[in-house]
Amino acid sequence: MEHEQSHRLGKRRRKRCVILIVIVVLIVIVIIAVVLGLTLRQNKSEFESTFLSRCEKFDQYDCKKVWDAFQQAYVNKDPCKVPVEAYDPLIAAAPFKPQCNRMMFWSKTKDVVHGFTEKRDCFVTLEDTLLGSVLDGLTWCGKEGSKDTFTTGCPRTCENNPVDSFWIRASAAYADVACGDVTAMLSGSTTTPFDPTSTFAKVEVTRFKAPKVRSLNVVMVIQKNAKSNCKNASLQKLKNALHKGITYSCKDVPESRIQECGSKPQIACRTCW
Ligand SMILES: *[C@@H]1O[C@H](CO)[C@@H](O)[C@H](O)[C@H]1NC(C)=O
Repeated sequence: MEHEQSHRLGKRRRKRCVILIVIVVLIVIVIIAVVLGLTLRQNKSEFESTFLSRCEKFDQYDCKKVWDAFQQAYVNKDPCKVPVEAYDPLIAAAPFKPQCNRMMFWSKTKDVVHGFTEKRDCFVTLEDTLLGSVLDGLTWCGKEGSKDTFTTGCPRTCENNPVDSFWIRASAAYADVACGDVTAMLSGSTTTPFDPTSTFAKVEVTRFKAPKVRSLNVVMVIQKNAKSNCKNASLQKLKNALHKGITYSCKDVPESRIQECGSKPQIACRTCW
């Protein structure tokens, strides 16, 4: 009798023990799932919050609408099947405003040109506009069957990837509204300042239309050990690629002068070079 009771008691204790272990395991699983879910969501919303906080620095735009128009271009799509046109609705949601005589284009001079335009507001690059500044330096893509935005593992080698397609579409739209006297900062530190494979050559130059665009004025940034200057033959190709009626000019400008003009607001922009 006594022996049987203690045996039953032991069985009950063991049962309780098993239930306890199952509960602990379940709790651990739930905690792991919640933590994983939160970090994944945080990853996703980190991109979205960067997008929105950069966007909110500009007035006159509905950033939530811009975000939605942006997402529809690549979300739930194979990241190698996002063509340039996928961003048409985004450009329509946040159109570029023509800023005659102030529009600045660049090729291989990103740091110099932005060092300048960040400090002086007489010139505006694509990266100073809403869409350009919101997406500058970011990587993004979608995946088939997912509503999320990913920031790692995004392909850049296939032609129709979300990042390259965006920059081509945005560059085209920005060049389309160019007007008046247009400036382009090219690099004398390359052997071919007007590089036929650049976005400037492939997308922008051919979109400048006369008489809306009066002139294209190249600022050739000359650093120490420069490899070329305004005399380089590639610039003849630039001149030839321009639509008839657009005046061309080129000026070699030391990088130090551009930096000086950036840091001294008392120097009038039109006398910088
Ligand atoms: C100048 O331009 C041509 C192509 O247009 C290029 O082949 C040449 O190497 C360039 N650079 C120099 C430093 O001559």
